[in-house]
Amino acid sequence: MSLKDQIETSKLPKHIAIIMDGNGRWAKKRGLLRNLGHKSGAKSVKQIVEACAEINVKYLTLYAFSTENWNRPKIEIELLMKLLISSLRKELKTLQKNNIKLNAIGNIDLLPKSVRKELVDVIEKTKNNNRLTLSLALSYGSREEIIKTIKEISLKVKNNLISPENIDNSVINNHLYTRNLPDVDLLIRTSGEQRISNFLLWQIAYAELYFTEVLWPDFTKENLFEAILNYQNRERRFGKTSEQLS
Ligand code: IPE
Ligand code: IPE
Ligand code: MG
Repeated sequence: MSLKDQIETSKLPKHIAIIMDGNGRWAKKRGLLRNLGHKSGAKSVKQIVEACAEINVKYLTLYAFSTENWNRPKIEIELLMKLLISSLRKELKTLQKNNIKLNAIGNIDLLPKSVRKELVDVIEKTKNNNRLTLSLALSYGSREEIIKTIKEISLKVKNNLISPENIDNSVINNHLYTRNLPDVDLLIRTSGEQRISNFLLWQIAYAELYFTEVLWPDFTKENLFEAILNYQNRERRFGKTSEQLS
């Protein structure tokens, strides 16, 4: 039986988030420029988005550019932004064909105008799609997001729009970039690094973590299915005992 056929449709993670890491090392191993690693990584994005749509995962969130990535060499940032523009243009068709809605999370205002324009265009054109919500984390940092949330809520408290006693999970959720997304069920990081790198700190509170040595440009649909099967073999107890669950 293929890996895909082994996946239990009743136990699918509703929301998968991926830290797509290892493009640079993939290129270096081949004696190529880092940029070619990013280009190759874009092909994996297409594969994985299609795979999620195929098996009916409802939410996929991809870490594409972090607040810390602004500290990379200017030339690499420029090339990444160019790649983003061309990928958005090229993949609009794929998104429409597969009924996928594009969403962006992060401090989008910091992106170059040309990128924002393309992004807003694709978001607008796909806004009525409902098979899968694909969120791109761009200029995203979880601490920045939490600080922004605290500022917004504080202002509402100051203006008597909300009282401090009423601040709960849902108030916080409603102020995050991810306000329209459910909590993450499965977080995948490629390339062997075992860290979170400032991604979705609040939203992964009870996510299952999956680390693989595979570099992002080598990550295939089969690798995704493996991760999902691994997830399905875990017992998610949410603080309860095993006996309580059965
Ligand atoms: C991930 O690959 C892509 C981005 C962070 C934009 P890297 O560029 O971090 O690749 P490595 O970690 O150097 O191999
Ligand atoms: C995390 O990868 C950010 C993205 C995948 C976009 P990095 O390669 O930037 O993370 P660190 O620096 O290794 O933690
Ligand atoms: Mg990296």
